Amino acid sequence: MSDQRPTVLTCAQPTGQLTLGNYLGAIKNWVALLDDYTCYFGIVDQHAITVKGIPAELRRNTLECIAQYIACGLDPEKAHLFVQSHIVGHTELAWVLGCMTPIGDLQRMTQFKEKASKLGFEIGSGDDLRIKNEGARPGATLNSGLLYYPVLMAADILLYNAHLVPTGEDQRQHLELTRDLAQRFNATYSETFNVPEPHMGKVGARIMSLQEPTKKMSKSDENLNATLFLLDEPAVLKKKIMSAVTDSGTEVVAREDKPGISNLLSMYTASTGESLDQAENQFTGKQYGEFKAAVADAVIAALEPVQAKYKALVSDKGYLQSVIKTGNEAAQKTAYKTLAKVYRKVGFMERPR
Ligand code: TYM
Repeated sequence: MSDQRPTVLTCAQPTGQLTLGNYLGAIKNWVALLDDYTCYFGIVDQHAITVKGIPAELRRNTLECIAQYIACGLDPEKAHLFVQSHIVGHTELAWVLGCMTPIGDLQRMTQFKEKASKLGFEIGSGDDLRIKNEGARPGATLNSGLLYYPVLMAADILLYNAHLVPTGEDQRQHLELTRDLAQRFNATYSETFNVPEPHMGKVGARIMSLQEPTKKMSKSDENLNATLFLLDEPAVLKKKIMSAVTDSGTEVVAREDKPGISNLLSMYTASTGESLDQAENQFTGKQYGEFKAAVADAVIAALEPVQAKYKALVSDKGYLQSVIKTGNEAAQKTAYKTLAKVYRKVGFMERPR
């Protein structure tokens, strides 16, 4: 892998199985970059603990997530697949960047507000950023990791001096903060970081919930019919898609007043590679039922090779461990280099040898 190529970095949280949104909105686009970039793909377990979970599940999900990455086409011969907590540098750089981040910038982040609101906390807006807890669930706490999350994410990206960060639309605001922090650091301490560019696919960058198509499809949705998982059996995928919420009217077209049909069309086009025009023409005059069945077939066909590869991989723990070990080694080498540079620039004394 040549070091002359520009760098791509992106990550996913191991908070459960990957979803169709993760696949179509993110991972599928990462595969296209493998040959032209030096690629780092992380499993961000340190981000995952911002939400309460079960330790044994996190451990298992981390290994299974690596298997899902490879099954999706992220060839470990071409990309460095690493586990965030195994690398020295992510939390260290996050601390340095946190010391340059106004708290208000973090309180204004949409995802922070959404996560807080799920727990019943309300964050003020404008200049009034007080955290109101009147509606909080009994015993609920708003941990500071949730607030600090985007700084850790910025560190993930800047630690590898990434040029390009492919993600779904939901990460756009976090990437803006990362760009701001890179620029602020460069302006304060001299040129150090590339200012990374976001890279969002034209199709699939925002796959929505099947039950509430104005909300993104998410791993943690309480409604089990809202989310398609990468490893759902074909019959389950079909059942969920056939029961997806649609819109009034009968036309199969992507339009703002048709969020349900638009979402199904996104899934269809991202799964088949057809253009939106082609898809809309193909379903002119067809009933919603027939359209949904075609979406289900397309998604099932797109996931079939991924599922087959995953099944073959997941029991081979030795192989998965070896992929992580190799990926970690490359990631750590780069991480140490960046961290040493940053520490020198901010004025930390060199370690006596
Ligand atoms: P995460 O784990 O929620 O999602 C992983 C990737 O999947 C994309 N994605 C979607 N795309 C389209 N439609 C959806 N419904 C959908 N749901 C998820 C996400 O945009 C993401 O690209 N904060 C990040 C993880 C992260 C990261 C990073 C990403 C940590 N450090 C550094 C990039 C660079 C997250 O929670 O992604």
